[in-house]
Amino acid sequence: MSAATQRLVQAAIDASKSAYAPYSNFHVGAALLLDDGQIVTGSNFENASYGMTLCAETVAIAKANSDGQLRAIREIAVAGGLAGHVGAAAEPITPCGRCRQIIKEVADLTDTDIPVHCAHAGGYETFTLSELLPHGFGPASLK
Ligand code: THU
Repeated sequence: MSAATQRLVQAAIDASKSAYAPYSNFHVGAALLLDDGQIVTGSNFENASYGMTLCAETVAIAKANSDGQLRAIREIAVAGGLAGHVGAAAEPITPCGRCRQIIKEVADLTDTDIPVHCAHAGGYETFTLSELLPHGFGPASLK
C-alpha cells in the first residue's frame, strides 16, 4: 500500500462526509488524482425522485471537467458505507455500472487504464477500469 494511494483513499473517505444521502443513508466519496498531484473530490447527491441520484464518482468527474481537468485525471479512489461506517465494509465498495461507463470516458480520452482504488476495512483494493468494465464501449469505439 503506497502512502500516496492511502492519501487518495483517505480523501475519498473525507469527501463522503459531504454526501447528501437521506434516502439510502449510504455515503460515498470519490477522489480523483490529477496529473499535477491535485485531488478533486465528490460525494453522492440523492434526490427525492430516487432515480435522479448522482453518484460520488460522477460528481467528482463532472467537477474536474468543469474545471477543465477532465484529461488530467489519472487515478480514482472510492469509499462507501452507511453513515459513520464509510470504508469499513469487509469487501471493497466498487463503482456502479453507470460510473464505470463514466470512468471509461476518462480512460479512453487519456489512453490510460485508470486504476480505481476501492476502500474496505483492511485498506483498499485496486482494480483497473478494464477489469471493472471489460470490452466496454467508449469514445474510441466511435472512431
Ligand atoms: N453510489 C455512489 O455514489 N457510487 C457508486 O458507485 C455506487 C452507489 C451511491 C448512490 C446512492 O446515493 C447510494 O450510493 C446507494 O446506492
